[in-house]
Amino acid sequence: MEDRRSELYPQLRLTGVQAVDLQHEVLFSLLDSLRMETQRESSAFSVDSAIKALKLYVQTHFTYEESLMLAQSYEHYGDHLTEHRAFEKELPDLERELDDLEDKSAREEALTRIMRFLESWLTHHINEIDTELFGDPKNFRPAA
Ligand SMILES: [Fe+2]
Ligand SMILES: [Fe+2]
Repeated sequence: MEDRRSELYPQLRLTGVQAVDLQHEVLFSLLDSLRMETQRESSAFSVDSAIKALKLYVQTHFTYEESLMLAQSYEHYGDHLTEHRAFEKELPDLERELDDLEDKSAREEALTRIMRFLESWLTHHINEIDTELFGDPKNFRPAA
């Protein structure tokens, strides 16, 4: 499979479905915002808002992607849904983890860990799972 990369985020492989690739870039720009809020030592409120925005957009993106998958002919349909659900379940736990931290340095440490987790999960999922899904036309219906 040809390895095409996003111009904005070269660590991301392009799936070839433009709407999906754009959404992946938006996800990474939301990660950038979260990183900025984290580094600026912004108020807990701004960091929480950045996490909420990411969480909402993850939901929107998963819904869209799942609407394209063909349950009958996409071999990894079930596994893909399981991955999405597992990630969605992880996000509120991360928010709760931050809520429970009063101490500033503990919060910073937790945020660094959370950023690393989000970035590596999304990069792996997009580059391996999504790219494989959209690499074979029998796996999905064309985007409108
Ligand atoms: Fe995706
Ligand atoms: Fe996916």
